[in-house]
Formats: sequence, C-alpha cells, structure tokens
Amino acid sequence: MAEMIPRDFIELLLAKVDIVDVINAQVPLRKKSSSNYFARCPFHQEKSPSFSVSQPKQFYYCFGCGARGNAIDFLMQHERLRFPEAIETLARSAGMEVPRTAAAGKQDDSLPALYDLMAAVTSYYYDQMRHSSRAIAYLKQRGITGAIARDFSLGYAPSGSHHLLEQFSDQKKLLEAGLIIKKSEGNYYDRFRDRIMFPIHDHRSRIIGFGGRILDQGEPKYLNSPETALFQKGHELYGLYQALQANRKLERVVIVEGYMDVLALFQQGITYAVATLGTATTPHHLQRLFRYTSDIIFCFDGDAAGRTAAWRALQVIFPMMQDSLQVRFLFLPEGEDPDTLIRQEGKAPFEKRLSAALPLSTFFFQTLSRQSDLTTMEGRARFAAAAVNYIKQLPSDSIFQGILFEELSKRARIEVEALKSPPPAPPPLVEKGKPSGLSKALALLIQYPHLVTHLPDRLSMVHLPGYDLFTQLVEIMKKNPNMTTGVLIEYWRNHPQAAFIHQL
Ligand code: UTP
Ligand code: MN
Repeated sequence: MAEMIPRDFIELLLAKVDIVDVINAQVPLRKKSSSNYFARCPFHQEKSPSFSVSQPKQFYYCFGCGARGNAIDFLMQHERLRFPEAIETLARSAGMEVPRTAAAGKQDDSLPALYDLMAAVTSYYYDQMRHSSRAIAYLKQRGITGAIARDFSLGYAPSGSHHLLEQFSDQKKLLEAGLIIKKSEGNYYDRFRDRIMFPIHDHRSRIIGFGGRILDQGEPKYLNSPETALFQKGHELYGLYQALQANRKLERVVIVEGYMDVLALFQQGITYAVATLGTATTPHHLQRLFRYTSDIIFCFDGDAAGRTAAWRALQVIFPMMQDSLQVRFLFLPEGEDPDTLIRQEGKAPFEKRLSAALPLSTFFFQTLSRQSDLTTMEGRARFAAAAVNYIKQLPSDSIFQGILFEELSKRARIEVEALKSPPPAPPPLVEKGKPSGLSKALALLIQYPHLVTHLPDRLSMVHLPGYDLFTQLVEIMKKNPNMTTGVLIEYWRNHPQAAFIHQL
C-alpha cells in the first residue's frame, strides 16, 4: 500500500531537524571545525574516524566506505528503517505529525475497520476450534500442544459456505479482507472452509491475513489470504511477531518454509523461526528481518529443489550483504522438514545443525565450482566469470566483496586485479574521466545551493548532456535558495540518477 507523504512536509521536516542531533544520538560526534563533525564510521570497521557530518549541508559522508546521505538516509541505513518509518521517527523527534495525501488518507480510514474485522474473525475461528473434535484431533495428531495453539491463535474454519456472512454481516468489508469470494452478483461464499486456520500477524500484533490447511488430503493443501490492503505476501513473515514476543533480542533468525515448521520449532524451544508465505524470500522480507537481527539462517530441503531455492535466496541477498551481516544455509536430510526433524531429534541436535550451517561464501563457491571443471583452464575461466558476475553485486567496496575476490582468485588461480571487472560505465556527464564544466557547476550547486541566486535567468548550454538535470536543480533551488544539500538530494530518492547526484 503506497503511503504518500507530501514533499513539502519532508522538506519542512529536514529543515526542522538537525542532522548533527540525529546522528549524535546514535553515534557520538566530535566537533572538528565550526560546522563539521567527525566520528568513527558506524557503517564499517575502522580505527581512525573518517565519517564526517556537515551541519550547514545537513549531510554526512564517510571517506572510508562512501556511506552518505541526509538525516532520512541515516535512519534508513543505521536503524534499518524503511522510508516512511524514517520520516515517522524524525517527525516524532521534532514533535510533528506526518500528514498523508488525500488519496492515502481515504484508504487509511477504512483500515482500522479491516483490522477489527480480522481480529473478530480470528476469535470466531478460535472458538470454532473448541467445538470441532475433528480439528482438535488433527492438531493432536500433528503434535501441537494447547499452549502453542494459543500462542499462535490457531483456529478452525468450519465447512459450509456462509458462516462469515452470517456472523459478520458486512459483506463489503469481508470481501476487502479477502475472507469471502464473490461467485456472482449477490452470491458470496467463505474462502476458508473446513481448514485449520493460521492467523498471520504483522510485527505490531495486528492480524493481517490467514493461512488455512486442509485437514485431510486435498488441493490446495494450504490456502492463503489474497493480497489485500492489509496483507502483502512478499513482505510478511509468519512467526515474526511471536519470535519478537518470545525474545527480547533476536540473536538469529531461521527462515523455514512452512507454518507447521515454525510451530514445531517454537514448541521445541527454537522460538526464532519464521516462514515466508508460500513465496520465495524477497528483499522486503530480508530488510524487515535485518531490522531485528544480523544473523540469518536459511533452512532448505537437501534435495535439488531445495538447492535451487537456496541459490535463489542467495541471489536476493547478495546486493544487501552488508559486512555486519551473517547469512548461512542449512540443508536438511532428504525427506525431512524442520517439523519432522525436530520432533525426531529434539532441540539440541537441531541447534547443532544450525550452528554448523554453511556460510554464504561456502555455499556460493560450492555451488559454482560444481558447475565447472576446475582442473582445466577453460573451466576455471568459466567459473571465474560466473563468480565475478555475482560478486560484483555485493555492496561495492564491502570487506566481504574483497574477501570473496581473494578467495575466487585462489580457487580460479587468477590475479585479483584481473578478476575485478572494468569500472561501471561512467555517468553521462563525465567525459574521459574529467568532469565537464557543466558537471562541475552541478557539483558546486549541490554543495552550495545558495549560489543559484547568482545564476542568469537564461543559460546557453542547452546542447550539453546533463542540461535537463541542471535546469531541474536550478528550478528547485530558485524556489528555495536556503535549501541545504540534505534537502536537495531528497528530490532524487529512488531516482536512477541518485548515485550520480550523491557523487557530485
Ligand atoms: P509444504 O508442502 O512443504 O508443506 O509447504 P508443509 O509445510 O510441510 O506442511 P505440512 O507439514 O504438510 O502441513 C510449505 C509451505 O508452502 C506453502 C505454505 O506456506 C506451506 O507452509 N504452501 C504449500 C502453500 O501456500 N500452498 C500449498 O498448497 C502448499
Ligand atoms: Mn511438513
């Protein structure tokens, strides 16, 4: 659900907060000159401080690792907040309320009612469970205790097609919540019938969706809520809420495939497992998790399908692989899932498996080297080319990237320098490594926005590459010559030229 926060507000907010305060609250800053502060960089390991914060520019920059941005970027990077959350946090500290645009506001009005409905339906399913000896017998047979059923608010959707409409007459809301399906005009029926119900919580305890398992054989085995205003599969993780409840701090998180896996692990004392909801792991899932932990273990079947899924997860995680993170892969014996395995062997042996999980780098090289014959030069070249393609996707200049290049160099017997590909295509404004006159002008403007008042109204550079960008900048700045660099770069968030602007 797109939240629209008016740009004016963001500017006001950035003008009101001081980046020095924002950063100093997390990373003690030392004053170096009248307006510049320094610290040891919170984004990479270092002995001497190369992280600088400019008060007049409202901008930070690390000369060591290149981390940079305004107050919003800092909260996003350091606190691992998403953009709207970073805005919320800043607004709270400044005593301001985040306004929403009309469109988003209208949608927001209906949300509390939907949350209420989801909660009421959860209670209904929960009560139905108490009345269904069949459902109770099923859970018993799967080894689920009453305590776990309570912790996870498990329920039962009875067979029959019109229970929800009879209980909760609001047809429109039921439809919006994905709980009923429209067959034809005036003909609606319950989406979940004769299923064990697994309510899906968001991280704030609200119920946003359901998974439902069939009791006997049948298709589909699991039915999930459709995407609704409350529920996006690619963002949510089953069990995260309970894991956060059970642990003050999540030292590590195990990502498993199924609802039942989360329950079985939890019941055996591994209270830090989450499951994706019938989808592959997405960057959203990982971003969410990395806000709570820096240690993730993916758990997959040991078969070919499991290996393929693991490789897919690796590809998702590579671009996000900050040096502070640890990611590992656990492959289970064939034919087992975490549910069956932990019930057989118990907590300690399972945790031993977790501790022995393959580091990302091991799994990476293992998989790629299986695809080429490393005893031949051709094979090593192929292997190196494939590996470089992936390693390049790691955050550039991360220590981890350097280590993987070193390791690849050893395995492929090729010099590290030869492995490192040519630098990415230069930005359009920089010709033959030398900044053009226009890009120098751009850089000056970005760093000293007030210079805009000295510009003539008409410029005779229309033919130069980058002119569009230049006029855009000038237009923005003319409206507000007192704008800081930090506010200015906010205009280019999520823009293809953002990196270039930052560089300037
Ligand atoms: P599995 O088929 O591996 O089942 O699905 P499971 O988790 O072992 O379930 P049990 O033990 O038989 O009860 C793994 C996950 O994939 C999603 C569900 O999230 C499930 O937990 N899935 C599976 C679906 O969404 N739909 C399906 O039809 C099957
Ligand atoms: Mn299972």
